[in-house]
Amino acid sequence: MMEAQKLRIPGPTPVPPQVMEAMQRPMIPHRGDEFRRLHLGMIEKLREILRTSGDVFVIPGSGSLGWEAAIVNTLSHGDEVVAFVTGDFGVRFATVAERFGLTVQRVDVEPGHAARPELVRDALTRYPNARAVLYTHNETSTGVTNPLSEIAPIVRDHGGLLFVDAVSSAGAIPIATNEWGIDVLLTGSQKGWMCPPGLAMIAVSQRALREGTRAGFPRAFLDFTDWKTSTAKGDTPATAPLTHFFALDAACDLILDEGMDARAKRHAQAAAETRASLEAGGFSLLADSDVASDTVTAARPPGDMSANELVRTVRERYDIEVAAGQGPLSDSIIRIGHMGWFSRDDIARTAAAVVACAAVFAE
Ligand SMILES: Cc1ncc(COP(=O)(O)O)c(C=O)c1O
Repeated sequence: MMEAQKLRIPGPTPVPPQVMEAMQRPMIPHRGDEFRRLHLGMIEKLREILRTSGDVFVIPGSGSLGWEAAIVNTLSHGDEVVAFVTGDFGVRFATVAERFGLTVQRVDVEPGHAARPELVRDALTRYPNARAVLYTHNETSTGVTNPLSEIAPIVRDHGGLLFVDAVSSAGAIPIATNEWGIDVLLTGSQKGWMCPPGLAMIAVSQRALREGTRAGFPRAFLDFTDWKTSTAKGDTPATAPLTHFFALDAACDLILDEGMDARAKRHAQAAAETRASLEAGGFSLLADSDVASDTVTAARPPGDMSANELVRTVRERYDIEVAAGQGPLSDSIIRIGHMGWFSRDDIARTAAAVVACAAVFAE
């Protein structure tokens, strides 16, 4: 079995022993006081990490569920939205909006670049009636962290709702949900949160909840009103996946013990060291340097090396898992995750293994 530390794809990420241990806990009644205490305590921790005094819901499923939840709880068929697409996950978010029959104004950005303030301002001037903006904070497919804090005030001035996909940033890269005025922030347990896949965590503003009263989409399991009513009491509308809740609660403790500032520094350092090693090994980094992600690095191998071949070689020779690209970049870039639980050594070893394998190819 692969050791956790050898998993260096950009999610799922390794799960630390304290979280593994929490998952060994026996089941408890999901309608009992013990569960309610755990759930309410965990929501407080999530609020602190995400810097929000608003509602946070922990819903069984994966990150993608957050896209759908944001849309069905606040919008109606035919509403116009502006979707900033900086990579494959931006495409997927926009596609979900299209499937629901929204009028999606897609603003595409070349891979490696960010959806910057001027672009956002321009687009929102063109679409004054847009009801919402779909924005990927950390585009995992290209290793770009879009400048969320800078575009948030522009969206506020415009007046539309701000939906943020923070699946591969939250828990690792600091986000000021309240201060930046994010209406729906969605993330997933298997990334910076150091948990197994299985939970979507969604922070929702008062404004988004108010919009829900006139939103026309039918909704059942994902209805924020039900989640709000239940969560306020420590309950969940359906049976909670207890093991996942135990895991996330333990992971929140680890995150708060480390502190988000220290955590941000650790991620930034790992990212900088990964970039430096890859560049020294002849790779060219995909992301513009000022928006390069602290949780995932994407780079083109030297020459016309196949990224998938390189990933396979790293696995065979070093027993380390890194990822190739997605969509149009599937064979042209490799991606290294430095997200959640890792040591400086883990990351240095990974980058060195990738560079060494690339050198073998080049021979
Ligand atoms: C930025 C981003 N958004 C959304 C998703 C989808 O999350 P999930 O696979 O948990 O549904 C991912 C998964 O990698 C992601 O990186």
